[in-house]
Parts: sequence; structure tokens; C-alpha cells
Amino acid sequence: MTGTGGTAFTDDLLTPAASGDPYPLLHALRETDPVHWSAAHRAWLITRYDDNSASFQNKAFSSDRVRPLLAARADRPERAREPSASDTVLGLIADWMVVSDPPAHTRLRKLAAGAFKGQRIAAMTEQITAIVDTHIDGFLQESGPADLIAGIAYPLPATVIATMLGAPPEDRDRFREWSDELALVAFGTGGAARADRHERALRGLQEMAAYFRSLVEYRRREPGEDMLSALMAKEGDDRLSDDELVAMCALLLFAGHETTTNSIANSILALLRHPEQLERLRAEPELIGTAVEELLRFDGPIKVLNRWVVAETEVRGTVIRPGERVHLILASANRDPEKFTDPDVLDIGRSPNPHIAFGKGIHACIGAQLARTETRIAVARIVERMPGLALAGDPEWKSVLASRSLEALPVTHGGGRS
Ligand code: HEM
Repeated sequence: MTGTGGTAFTDDLLTPAASGDPYPLLHALRETDPVHWSAAHRAWLITRYDDNSASFQNKAFSSDRVRPLLAARADRPERAREPSASDTVLGLIADWMVVSDPPAHTRLRKLAAGAFKGQRIAAMTEQITAIVDTHIDGFLQESGPADLIAGIAYPLPATVIATMLGAPPEDRDRFREWSDELALVAFGTGGAARADRHERALRGLQEMAAYFRSLVEYRRREPGEDMLSALMAKEGDDRLSDDELVAMCALLLFAGHETTTNSIANSILALLRHPEQLERLRAEPELIGTAVEELLRFDGPIKVLNRWVVAETEVRGTVIRPGERVHLILASANRDPEKFTDPDVLDIGRSPNPHIAFGKGIHACIGAQLARTETRIAVARIVERMPGLALAGDPEWKSVLASRSLEALPVTHGGGRS
């Protein structure tokens, strides 16, 4: 593309260069063409903070993007027979609040909110610290370079959500596998090379659905203090059906898994690349609160959110029409110099920090407090317990649009502390 400044540059966010470091391209787009039609992405790329922020309130932008897909598939004559594996997977996802508009969204969100009460998250602090410390203990057994994601950032969120949903400890490893299988479909992370991905995901998801169904039955007999019991506590018309409960458990597992893993991994990478900020955090551990907000702003887990246009609307004078697609680029909004002073500088004491790494408006992340708690504890414990932590090579970024996701984070820990 050619920006209004006359400089030619590609607008493809999936080139190896842009996957590694999207910020120069996002900076150019934000400066020269902040509401940009991208032929590469077949979508409008919205890059300024104010436009992203306003888009979350714009009723012309719909989140309901799975149901229309299912309806279109159902209309095709060859679909009249057995539903395919991908139809079944989409059927489960279609019940998720994150891909619903009001009024369906309003009802699901209200029912889920009770399970995310502040006290419930606060009560998890000790358990999360214990889970983090166990993974760090294991990681410290490695003598050479090892992947901090595989050792700590990846297993943590699934274990935490499994614990919160009230699953017995021996079942918790399976949560990770289910989340991965779902990712194969939802993010297409398997790519064309994984032609069997829908079948694989379906097998995993059927197992997961059966598991959650039996957990629901168990909690109906024996309610506890867990999140699932809280989700089931409502009575009357306004309660979740069993299918909805299963879909909700799958969403909570999935939405909080890769995002939190990436939040921890991206945070540690940013600190290792800014040793003066890492030292500052070591010297002033009480900065962990503002540090995590800044790390979420600086290189947060979600790069792009999708919306479908359902009514004609205007963004910064550009007309956007029904049937078109919009990419809200959080990674760009969070580096907008009109909103943040020196946006490319990592400053762990930055305050205020109105980043939108958790989105905004009716869909703003319902798990944000849990994600913050997990990231704060994990980053604080890693920094404290691994004073010799160092990068072992240049990590590679996955080529995905939705997220900022590392393939691996190879580090040496240089010995640890208990
Ligand atoms: C650092 C980690 C996380 C980040 C950066 C993050 C980010 C986001 C963002 C940007 C959205 C808005 C999506 C949209 O507008 O389309 C969202 C929604 C959501 N998140 Fe998170 N999330 C994180 C962790 C979690 C966790 C731990 C959970 C739960 C266990 C969770 C559950 C959800 C759910 C259920 C929604 C949908 C809310 C709705 O549609 O009303 N997230 N998240």
C-alpha cells in the first residue's frame, strides 16, 4: 500500500517481519491511514486509540460472528446429511458470550459475572502462588537453556481455571490438551498443514463436554465454593442450561489459557530486553501492579479483535458498510502517542495507564482481575526467584493475527532461590 505520506509499505500483519515486530508497521498505519482498507486482510484496520475506543461502543460493529457462519453452512444442500466435525465445534462456540450480541450476550454475561466476584479471585492468591512456585521449582531443575513457556507460563492458567472450576487435581492436565485442541479450530493455529485439525479438535471437545457434563451433575448433588457451583446457583428462567454450562466452562478455559500464558511470557521477554526496568522491579517489587499494566500495554497478548459490520457507519470520516469486516488493533491503540507519552518506552512505573489490552465496553474481559493476579504473581516470583535469568537465543513469534504469541522463550535461569 501507499500511505498518504507517499511511503510504500505492505499492510500485511502476517509477514515474518511484522509477526516479529508489528510496531513499525502499526506506527506507519496510525500516522498515515488510521482507518485503512487492507486487501491483504480483507478488513478495515483501525489503529488509533480513540477510534478503537469508540468502536467498542459502536452498535454497527457486531461480535456475533459464529452463528451466521453456522446458518450459512446449514443452508448448503451438501450439509443436509450429518453435521461435520467443524459444524459441531462451531455449534459449541456459537453459545459463547464473546461471539454474541445483546440480548443473548447480556444474559450470559450477567450469569457469568457472579462467578468472577473479586473475593473469589482474591481467595485464589495463595493457591496461585503455590502453583507458580511448584512450576518454578521444576524449572530450576533444568541445568541448561530451557523454555520458560513450557515450564511455567503454559501450565499455569489451565491449572488455575481447573482448580477454580472445582475439577479434581488429577484431571487438571487434561484441561491444557482440550484448550489446545480448541485453539486448533478457533485460531486455526494448525494451519493448512493440519488438515485433520477439526477432527482432532472434535475428539478433544467431545471428551471435554462429557467431562464438564459429569462435573455439572456432581456439583448439582454436591455444591461447593467453586466457580461452577456459582454458575449453577441461579434458579428459574434465568439459569444456564446444561449445554450452556458446558459451553461456558469451555469458554473460561479457552479464553484464559493462551492469553495468560502470553501475558506472562511477553512480560518476561520485555523485561529481559529492558534490563534497567528488570533491575528496577527487582529493587522495587512493590511496582508489580503498575509494571504488569505497562507490560500489558507494551506488548499485550491480544493484537487484533474482529468485528462484523451490520449497519453503515463512519469512522474518522471513512464510510464502512454492512458485510465488511473490521480489525480493532489493540496493539496499535496501546502505542498511540496521542494517548501515551513516549509510547515505545517501557516504563514500569507508568501511571495512569489507560491501555485497552483487555478490550472495552460490554465485552471487556471478564477474567481481567484473574489474569492480572496470575500475571503479577508469576512475574514477581520469576523475577525474585531467578536473579540470574537471561535470554538463551532470539525467541520467534508465531505468525498469527489475533495474538502476540511466542513459539518458545528459551532462557537460562543461572541458579535459583527458594
Ligand atoms: C492477560 C490475559 C487476558 C487478556 C489480555 C484478555 C483479553 C481479553 C479481551 C481483549 C477481551 C475482549 C474480547 C472482545 O471484545 O471481543 C476478552 C474477553 C473475555 N475474556 Fe479475557 N483476557 C485475558 C484473560 C482472561 C481470563 C483469565 C479469563 C477467564 C478465566 C478470560 C475470559 C474472558 C471472557 C469470558 C471474555 C468474553 C467477555 C464478553 O464477551 O463479555 N480472559 N479478554
